[in-house]
Amino acid sequence: MRRKGLASMAVQTVATSTDPSAVDLGPAAALSCRECGHRVPLGPVFACEECFGPLEIAYDFSAYDTEELRKRIEAGPANIWRYAPLLPVPADVATKPNLNPGWTKLVQADHLAGELGVETGKLFVKDDSGNPTHSFKDRVVAQALEAARAFGFTTLSCSSTGNLAGAVGAAAARAGLRSCVFIPHDLEQGKVVMAAIYGGELVGIEGNYDDVNRFCSELIGDPAGEGWGFVNVNLRPYYAEGSKTLAYEICEQLGWRLPDQIVVPIASGSQLTKVDKGLQELVKLGLVEDRPYKIFGAQAKGCSPVSTAFKAGHDVVRPQKPDTIAKSLAIGNPADGPYVLDIARRTGGAVEDVTDEQVVDAIKLLARTEGIFAETAGGVTVGVTKKLIEDGLLDPSLTTVVLNTGDGLKTLDAVAGTGLTATIRPTLDSFREAGLA
Ligand SMILES: Cc1ncc(COP(=O)(O)O)c(C=O)c1O
Ligand SMILES: [Zn+2]
Repeated sequence: MRRKGLASMAVQTVATSTDPSAVDLGPAAALSCRECGHRVPLGPVFACEECFGPLEIAYDFSAYDTEELRKRIEAGPANIWRYAPLLPVPADVATKPNLNPGWTKLVQADHLAGELGVETGKLFVKDDSGNPTHSFKDRVVAQALEAARAFGFTTLSCSSTGNLAGAVGAAAARAGLRSCVFIPHDLEQGKVVMAAIYGGELVGIEGNYDDVNRFCSELIGDPAGEGWGFVNVNLRPYYAEGSKTLAYEICEQLGWRLPDQIVVPIASGSQLTKVDKGLQELVKLGLVEDRPYKIFGAQAKGCSPVSTAFKAGHDVVRPQKPDTIAKSLAIGNPADGPYVLDIARRTGGAVEDVTDEQVVDAIKLLARTEGIFAETAGGVTVGVTKKLIEDGLLDPSLTTVVLNTGDGLKTLDAVAGTGLTATIRPTLDSFREAGLA
Protein backbone atom coordinates (compact mmCIF):
# COMPACT_ATOMS: atom_id res chain seq x y z
CA MET A 1 0.00 0.00 0.00
CA ARG A 2 2.72 2.43 0.88
CA ARG A 3 4.07 2.25 -2.66
CA LYS A 4 0.86 3.62 -4.10
CA GLY A 5 1.82 7.28 -3.69
CA LEU A 6 5.13 6.80 -5.39
CA ALA A 7 3.75 4.66 -8.18
CA SER A 8 2.24 7.75 -9.75
CA MET A 9 5.67 9.34 -10.05
CA ALA A 10 7.84 8.30 -12.93
CA VAL A 11 11.28 6.92 -12.12
CA GLN A 12 13.07 9.93 -13.41
CA THR A 13 16.69 10.73 -13.96
CA VAL A 14 17.57 14.33 -14.67
CA ALA A 15 20.19 14.83 -17.34
CA THR A 16 23.42 16.27 -15.94
CA SER A 17 26.89 16.73 -17.32
CA THR A 18 28.42 14.20 -14.91
CA ASP A 19 28.62 10.41 -15.20
CA PRO A 20 26.94 9.21 -11.95
CA SER A 21 29.26 6.21 -11.70
CA ALA A 22 32.27 8.55 -11.42
CA VAL A 23 31.04 10.56 -8.42
CA ASP A 24 32.88 10.65 -5.08
CA LEU A 25 30.43 10.67 -2.20
CA GLY A 26 32.72 9.13 0.39
CA PRO A 27 31.34 6.02 2.12
CA ALA A 28 28.11 6.05 0.05
CA ALA A 29 28.26 2.86 -2.03
CA ALA A 30 24.93 2.69 -3.90
CA LEU A 31 21.24 3.49 -3.71
CA SER A 32 19.05 0.78 -2.25
CA CYS A 33 15.24 0.41 -2.35
CA ARG A 34 13.59 0.53 1.08
CA GLU A 35 10.90 -1.85 -0.12
CA CYS A 36 12.59 -4.54 -2.23
CA GLY A 37 16.31 -3.97 -1.61
CA HIS A 38 17.09 -3.50 -5.34
CA ARG A 39 20.38 -1.61 -5.70
CA VAL A 40 21.37 0.94 -8.32
CA PRO A 41 24.51 3.08 -8.73
CA LEU A 42 24.59 6.50 -7.06
CA GLY A 43 22.70 9.00 -9.18
CA PRO A 44 20.00 11.70 -9.06
CA VAL A 45 17.15 9.19 -8.74
CA PHE A 46 14.73 8.69 -5.90
CA ALA A 47 12.34 5.85 -6.79
CA CYS A 48 13.03 2.16 -7.46
CA GLU A 49 12.78 1.06 -11.08
CA GLU A 50 11.45 -2.34 -9.92
CA CYS A 51 8.73 -1.40 -7.44
CA PHE A 52 8.60 2.44 -7.19
CA GLY A 53 9.72 2.22 -3.52
CA PRO A 54 11.88 5.07 -2.19
CA LEU A 55 15.65 4.78 -2.61
CA GLU A 56 18.08 5.42 0.23
CA ILE A 57 21.83 5.46 0.57
CA ALA A 58 23.62 2.17 1.20
CA TYR A 59 27.08 2.50 2.78
CA ASP A 60 30.23 0.53 3.10
CA PHE A 61 31.33 1.07 6.70
CA SER A 62 33.18 -2.25 6.88
CA ALA A 63 36.67 -0.73 7.08
CA TYR A 64 35.97 1.32 10.21
CA ASP A 65 37.54 0.46 13.55
CA THR A 66 35.21 1.69 16.32
CA GLU A 67 37.78 3.43 18.50
CA GLU A 68 39.62 5.02 15.57
CA LEU A 69 36.30 6.29 14.21
CA ARG A 70 35.32 7.73 17.60
CA LYS A 71 38.67 9.57 17.84
CA ARG A 72 38.36 10.85 14.28
CA ILE A 73 34.86 12.19 14.98
CA GLU A 74 35.88 13.82 18.27
CA ALA A 75 38.83 15.52 16.58
CA GLY A 76 36.61 16.80 13.76
CA PRO A 77 35.13 20.28 13.26
CA ALA A 78 32.31 21.60 15.49
CA ASN A 79 29.71 21.06 12.76
CA ILE A 80 28.10 18.14 10.92
CA TRP A 81 31.28 17.40 8.98
CA ARG A 82 32.76 15.71 12.07
CA TYR A 83 30.48 12.84 10.89
CA ALA A 84 31.64 12.96 7.23
CA PRO A 85 32.79 9.28 7.44
CA LEU A 86 29.10 8.35 7.96
CA LEU A 87 27.57 10.67 5.34
CA PRO A 88 27.23 10.70 1.52
CA VAL A 89 29.91 13.36 1.09
CA PRO A 90 33.55 13.39 -0.05
CA ALA A 91 36.25 13.27 2.63
CA ASP A 92 37.36 16.87 1.94
CA VAL A 93 33.85 18.32 2.35
CA ALA A 94 34.82 20.50 5.31
CA THR A 95 37.16 22.55 3.10
CA LYS A 96 34.48 23.51 0.55
CA PRO A 97 32.38 26.69 0.71
CA ASN A 98 29.23 25.69 2.55
CA LEU A 99 27.25 26.80 5.60
CA ASN A 100 28.81 24.23 7.98
CA PRO A 101 25.64 23.68 10.03
CA GLY A 102 25.16 21.49 13.08
CA TRP A 103 26.78 20.84 16.47
CA THR A 104 23.89 22.79 17.97
CA LYS A 105 23.26 22.92 21.69
CA LEU A 106 21.78 20.06 23.68
CA VAL A 107 20.23 22.03 26.53
CA GLN A 108 19.58 20.34 29.85
CA ALA A 109 16.08 21.68 30.49
CA ASP A 110 15.63 21.37 34.26
CA HIS A 111 13.08 24.18 34.60
CA LEU A 112 10.93 22.73 31.83
CA ALA A 113 11.39 19.31 33.42
CA GLY A 114 10.06 20.73 36.70
CA GLU A 115 6.93 22.05 34.97
CA LEU A 116 6.32 18.79 33.13
CA GLY A 117 6.97 16.50 36.09
CA VAL A 118 10.15 15.04 34.60
CA GLU A 119 13.05 14.09 36.89
CA THR A 120 15.77 16.74 37.17
CA GLY A 121 18.63 16.09 34.76
CA LYS A 122 16.55 13.83 32.52
CA LEU A 123 15.01 16.29 30.01
CA PHE A 124 16.99 17.84 27.14
CA VAL A 125 16.09 20.15 24.27
CA LYS A 126 18.14 19.73 21.10
CA ASP A 127 18.01 23.31 19.91
CA ASP A 128 18.42 23.38 16.14
CA SER A 129 17.32 27.00 15.88
CA GLY A 130 21.07 27.65 16.23
CA ASN A 131 21.79 26.62 12.63
CA PRO A 132 22.89 29.18 9.99
CA THR A 133 19.36 29.76 8.63
CA HIS A 134 17.73 28.96 11.98
CA SER A 135 16.28 25.53 11.32
CA PHE A 136 17.41 21.91 11.05
CA LYS A 137 16.99 22.15 7.27
CA ASP A 138 20.59 23.36 6.91
CA ARG A 139 21.67 19.81 7.82
CA VAL A 140 19.77 18.16 4.98
CA VAL A 141 20.56 20.83 2.41
CA ALA A 142 24.28 20.48 3.15
CA GLN A 143 24.12 16.83 2.01
CA ALA A 144 22.00 17.62 -1.05
CA LEU A 145 24.44 20.35 -2.03
CA GLU A 146 27.30 17.85 -2.16
CA ALA A 147 25.20 15.52 -4.33
CA ALA A 148 24.25 18.44 -6.58
CA ARG A 149 27.92 19.34 -6.98
CA ALA A 150 28.84 15.71 -7.65
CA PHE A 151 26.14 15.28 -10.30
CA GLY A 152 26.90 18.62 -11.97
CA PHE A 153 23.61 20.42 -11.27
CA THR A 154 23.73 24.17 -11.80
CA THR A 155 20.45 25.18 -10.12
CA LEU A 156 19.42 24.20 -6.60
CA SER A 157 15.68 23.94 -6.00
CA CYS A 158 13.03 22.54 -3.66
CA SER A 159 9.39 22.44 -2.69
CA SER A 160 9.18 23.89 0.79
CA THR A 161 6.93 24.66 3.74
CA GLY A 162 9.25 27.62 4.39
CA ASN A 163 12.40 26.66 6.27
CA LEU A 164 13.83 24.55 3.48
CA ALA A 165 13.47 27.42 0.99
CA GLY A 166 15.68 29.63 3.17
CA ALA A 167 18.22 26.87 3.71
CA VAL A 168 18.48 26.19 -0.04
CA GLY A 169 18.76 29.90 -0.88
CA ALA A 170 21.58 30.41 1.61
CA ALA A 171 23.47 27.23 0.70
CA ALA A 172 23.30 28.06 -3.00
CA ALA A 173 24.53 31.60 -2.34
CA ARG A 174 27.53 30.29 -0.39
CA ALA A 175 28.28 27.65 -3.03
CA GLY A 176 27.91 30.07 -5.96
CA LEU A 177 24.98 28.22 -7.55
CA ARG A 178 21.68 29.57 -8.84
CA SER A 179 18.64 28.80 -6.68
CA CYS A 180 14.95 28.83 -7.54
CA VAL A 181 12.63 27.58 -4.81
CA PHE A 182 8.88 27.01 -4.54
CA ILE A 183 6.62 27.64 -1.53
CA PRO A 184 2.89 27.92 -0.83
CA HIS A 185 1.99 31.58 -1.51
CA ASP A 186 0.59 32.25 1.98
CA LEU A 187 3.53 31.50 4.32
CA GLU A 188 4.64 33.57 7.32
CA GLN A 189 6.48 36.81 6.47
CA GLY A 190 9.56 35.65 8.41
CA LYS A 191 9.87 32.56 6.23
CA VAL A 192 9.30 34.49 3.00
CA VAL A 193 11.96 37.10 3.82
CA MET A 194 14.42 34.41 4.96
CA ALA A 195 13.92 32.60 1.66
CA ALA A 196 14.21 35.70 -0.51
CA ILE A 197 17.08 37.56 1.15
CA TYR A 198 19.84 35.34 -0.28
CA GLY A 199 19.17 36.59 -3.78
CA GLY A 200 17.77 33.46 -5.44
CA GLU A 201 14.37 33.20 -7.09
CA LEU A 202 11.42 32.53 -4.78
CA VAL A 203 8.14 31.45 -6.34
CA GLY A 204 4.83 31.36 -4.45
CA ILE A 205 2.44 28.70 -5.72
CA GLU A 206 -1.31 29.18 -5.37
CA GLY A 207 -2.04 26.05 -3.34
CA ASN A 208 -0.78 24.14 -0.30
CA TYR A 209 2.51 22.27 0.13
CA ASP A 210 1.17 19.13 -1.52
CA ASP A 211 0.30 21.19 -4.63
CA VAL A 212 3.81 22.70 -4.60
CA ASN A 213 5.37 19.25 -4.36
CA ARG A 214 3.27 17.90 -7.21
CA PHE A 215 4.29 20.86 -9.36
CA CYS A 216 7.98 20.23 -8.63
CA SER A 217 7.64 16.55 -9.59
CA GLU A 218 6.23 17.68 -12.96
CA LEU A 219 8.98 20.24 -13.44
CA ILE A 220 11.64 17.56 -12.93
CA GLY A 221 10.28 15.60 -15.87
CA ASP A 222 10.11 18.67 -18.12
CA PRO A 223 12.97 20.17 -20.19
CA ALA A 224 12.47 23.37 -18.13
CA GLY A 225 13.84 21.47 -15.12
CA GLU A 226 16.95 20.17 -16.85
CA GLY A 227 20.10 20.68 -14.77
CA TRP A 228 18.04 21.32 -11.63
CA GLY A 229 18.75 19.55 -8.38
CA PHE A 230 15.58 19.49 -6.25
CA VAL A 231 17.02 18.79 -2.85
CA ASN A 232 13.92 17.00 -1.52
CA VAL A 233 12.82 15.31 -4.75
CA ASN A 234 15.50 14.00 -7.14
CA LEU A 235 18.24 14.49 -4.51
CA ARG A 236 16.02 13.22 -1.67
CA PRO A 237 18.09 10.10 -0.80
CA TYR A 238 21.15 12.33 -0.12
CA TYR A 239 19.18 15.17 1.50
CA ALA A 240 17.44 12.83 3.94
CA GLU A 241 20.73 11.55 5.35
CA GLY A 242 21.41 14.98 6.88
CA SER A 243 18.86 14.29 9.61
CA LYS A 244 21.02 11.42 10.89
CA THR A 245 23.42 14.04 12.22
CA LEU A 246 20.79 15.05 14.81
CA ALA A 247 20.93 11.52 16.21
CA TYR A 248 24.75 11.42 16.09
CA GLU A 249 25.07 14.75 17.92
CA ILE A 250 22.53 13.87 20.59
CA CYS A 251 24.34 10.62 21.41
CA GLU A 252 27.80 12.19 21.36
CA GLN A 253 26.59 15.12 23.52
CA LEU A 254 25.09 12.64 26.00
CA GLY A 255 28.56 11.05 26.29
CA TRP A 256 28.15 8.46 23.50
CA ARG A 257 24.89 7.18 24.94
CA LEU A 258 21.48 6.54 23.41
CA PRO A 259 18.62 8.62 24.84
CA ASP A 260 15.74 6.54 26.21
CA GLN A 261 13.06 8.63 24.52
CA ILE A 262 13.12 11.19 21.73
CA VAL A 263 10.32 13.44 20.46
CA VAL A 264 10.55 14.43 16.79
CA PRO A 265 8.26 16.66 14.70
CA ILE A 266 6.68 15.19 11.56
CA ALA A 267 6.02 16.94 8.26
CA SER A 268 7.00 14.47 5.52
CA GLY A 269 8.35 12.13 8.22
CA SER A 270 11.83 12.04 6.70
CA GLN A 271 13.57 13.53 9.73
CA LEU A 272 12.05 10.99 12.12
CA THR A 273 12.99 8.00 9.97
CA LYS A 274 16.58 9.22 9.64
CA VAL A 275 16.96 9.96 13.35
CA ASP A 276 16.11 6.29 13.84
CA LYS A 277 18.57 5.26 11.11
CA GLY A 278 21.30 7.37 12.76
CA LEU A 279 20.73 5.76 16.17
CA GLN A 280 20.83 2.28 14.64
CA GLU A 281 24.05 3.02 12.78
CA LEU A 282 25.77 4.14 15.99
CA VAL A 283 24.74 0.85 17.63
CA LYS A 284 25.99 -1.20 14.67
CA LEU A 285 29.29 0.70 14.61
CA GLY A 286 29.74 0.04 18.34
CA LEU A 287 29.86 3.78 19.14
CA VAL A 288 26.99 3.46 21.64
CA GLU A 289 25.79 0.60 23.78
CA ASP A 290 22.75 -1.21 22.38
CA ARG A 291 19.72 -0.57 24.60
CA PRO A 292 16.06 0.08 23.86
CA TYR A 293 14.93 3.56 22.87
CA LYS A 294 11.50 4.92 21.99
CA ILE A 295 10.78 7.39 19.19
CA PHE A 296 7.71 9.62 19.45
CA GLY A 297 6.31 11.62 16.53
CA ALA A 298 4.64 15.02 16.96
CA GLN A 299 2.08 16.72 14.73
CA ALA A 300 -0.38 19.62 14.93
CA LYS A 301 -4.01 18.52 15.11
CA GLY A 302 -4.79 20.63 12.03
CA CYS A 303 -2.42 18.44 9.99
CA SER A 304 -2.23 15.08 11.71
CA PRO A 305 -2.44 12.33 9.09
CA VAL A 306 0.24 10.22 10.79
CA SER A 307 -1.05 10.51 14.37
CA THR A 308 -4.57 9.80 13.13
CA ALA A 309 -3.35 6.58 11.46
CA PHE A 310 -1.27 5.65 14.52
CA LYS A 311 -4.19 6.01 16.91
CA ALA A 312 -6.52 4.11 14.58
CA GLY A 313 -4.02 1.25 14.29
CA HIS A 314 -3.76 1.73 10.50
CA ASP A 315 -0.70 1.04 8.31
CA VAL A 316 -1.91 3.43 5.65
CA VAL A 317 -1.77 7.20 6.07
CA ARG A 318 -4.83 8.95 4.67
CA PRO A 319 -4.04 12.43 3.27
CA GLN A 320 -5.54 15.49 4.98
CA LYS A 321 -6.02 19.12 3.97
CA PRO A 322 -3.80 21.08 6.40
CA ASP A 323 -5.23 23.87 8.55
CA THR A 324 -2.82 24.82 11.34
CA ILE A 325 -0.51 27.61 12.47
CA ALA A 326 2.33 25.05 12.39
CA LYS A 327 2.88 25.72 8.70
CA SER A 328 6.36 24.19 8.57
CA LEU A 329 4.75 20.84 9.43
CA ALA A 330 1.74 21.29 7.15
CA ILE A 331 2.22 18.34 4.79
CA GLY A 332 -1.12 16.60 4.32
CA ASN A 333 0.29 13.68 2.34
CA PRO A 334 3.57 12.73 4.07
CA ALA A 335 5.86 10.60 1.90
CA ASP A 336 7.46 8.81 4.86
CA GLY A 337 4.28 8.49 6.93
CA PRO A 338 4.06 4.67 6.82
CA TYR A 339 7.73 4.33 7.84
CA VAL A 340 7.10 6.65 10.79
CA LEU A 341 4.25 4.38 11.90
CA ASP A 342 6.57 1.35 11.67
CA ILE A 343 9.26 3.05 13.77
CA ALA A 344 6.90 4.38 16.45
CA ARG A 345 5.38 0.90 16.80
CA ARG A 346 8.68 -1.03 16.62
CA THR A 347 10.35 1.12 19.30
CA GLY A 348 7.31 1.28 21.59
CA GLY A 349 6.82 5.01 21.00
CA ALA A 350 3.71 6.81 19.76
CA VAL A 351 2.52 9.58 17.43
CA GLU A 352 0.47 12.34 19.02
CA ASP A 353 -0.94 15.72 18.06
CA VAL A 354 -1.80 19.02 19.78
CA THR A 355 -4.15 21.89 18.98
CA ASP A 356 -2.90 25.28 17.77
CA GLU A 357 -3.72 26.71 21.19
CA GLN A 358 -1.54 24.06 22.84
CA VAL A 359 1.24 24.86 20.33
CA VAL A 360 1.21 28.53 21.37
CA ASP A 361 1.12 27.63 25.08
CA ALA A 362 4.08 25.29 24.57
CA ILE A 363 6.12 27.95 22.70
CA LYS A 364 5.58 30.28 25.66
CA LEU A 365 6.33 27.54 28.19
CA LEU A 366 9.68 26.71 26.57
CA ALA A 367 10.63 30.38 26.28
CA ARG A 368 9.64 31.12 29.90
CA THR A 369 11.38 28.08 31.39
CA GLU A 370 14.52 27.71 29.27
CA GLY A 371 15.08 30.93 27.31
CA ILE A 372 14.53 29.15 24.00
CA PHE A 373 12.20 30.80 21.50
CA ALA A 374 10.92 28.04 19.26
CA GLU A 375 8.99 28.27 16.04
CA THR A 376 5.62 26.53 15.85
CA ALA A 377 7.27 23.16 15.10
CA GLY A 378 9.04 23.40 18.49
CA GLY A 379 5.71 24.28 20.08
CA VAL A 380 4.37 21.06 18.57
CA THR A 381 7.12 18.86 20.03
CA VAL A 382 7.02 20.47 23.49
CA GLY A 383 3.20 20.40 23.51
CA VAL A 384 3.16 16.75 22.47
CA THR A 385 5.78 15.89 25.12
CA LYS A 386 3.53 17.44 27.79
CA LYS A 387 0.53 15.50 26.51
CA LEU A 388 2.43 12.20 26.31
CA ILE A 389 3.58 12.58 29.91
CA GLU A 390 0.03 13.42 31.05
CA ASP A 391 -1.29 10.36 29.21
CA GLY A 392 1.38 8.10 30.71
CA LEU A 393 2.95 7.27 27.35
CA LEU A 394 6.28 8.98 27.99
CA ASP A 395 8.18 7.96 31.12
CA PRO A 396 9.24 11.05 33.13
CA SER A 397 12.00 9.11 34.90
CA LEU A 398 13.95 8.37 31.69
CA THR A 399 16.38 10.45 29.61
CA THR A 400 14.26 12.30 27.07
CA VAL A 401 15.32 14.55 24.19
CA VAL A 402 12.82 16.94 22.60
CA LEU A 403 13.74 18.48 19.25
CA ASN A 404 13.29 22.18 18.62
CA THR A 405 13.87 22.36 14.89
CA GLY A 406 13.34 26.06 14.18
CA ASP A 407 13.47 29.65 15.42
CA GLY A 408 10.50 31.55 16.83
CA LEU A 409 11.52 34.76 15.06
CA LYS A 410 10.24 33.17 11.84
CA THR A 411 6.72 32.59 13.21
CA LEU A 412 6.04 35.76 15.20
CA ASP A 413 2.35 35.76 14.18
CA ALA A 414 1.79 32.66 16.31
CA VAL A 415 2.56 34.65 19.46
CA ALA A 416 1.07 37.98 18.38
CA GLY A 417 -0.09 39.95 21.41
CA THR A 418 3.04 39.10 23.39
CA GLY A 419 4.63 42.48 24.10
CA LEU A 420 5.09 45.33 26.52
CA THR A 421 4.32 44.80 30.20
CA ALA A 422 3.66 48.52 30.59
CA THR A 423 4.41 51.88 28.96
CA ILE A 424 5.62 54.47 31.43
CA ARG A 425 7.06 57.98 31.56
CA PRO A 426 10.85 58.00 32.20
CA THR A 427 10.38 58.69 35.94
CA LEU A 428 10.62 56.57 39.07
CA ASP A 429 7.13 57.70 40.09
CA SER A 430 5.72 56.36 36.88
CA PHE A 431 7.64 53.08 37.36
CA ARG A 432 6.17 52.74 40.86
CA GLU A 433 2.66 53.65 39.67
CA ALA A 434 2.84 50.80 37.17
CA GLY A 435 3.39 48.39 40.07
CA LEU A 436 6.84 47.35 38.88
CA ALA A 437 8.92 48.37 41.91
C1 LIG B 1 11.07 23.45 11.51
C2 LIG B 1 10.75 22.12 10.91
N1 LIG B 1 10.75 21.05 11.71
C3 LIG B 1 10.46 19.83 11.25
C4 LIG B 1 10.14 19.60 9.92
C5 LIG B 1 9.80 18.19 9.51
O1 LIG B 1 10.57 17.68 8.52
P1 LIG B 1 10.24 16.31 7.75
O2 LIG B 1 9.60 16.73 6.45
O3 LIG B 1 11.59 15.70 7.55
O4 LIG B 1 9.31 15.49 8.59
C6 LIG B 1 10.15 20.68 9.04
C7 LIG B 1 9.84 20.49 7.62
O5 LIG B 1 9.70 21.39 6.85
C8 LIG B 1 10.46 21.98 9.55
O6 LIG B 1 10.48 23.05 8.76
ZN1 LIG C 1 12.10 -1.62 -5.06
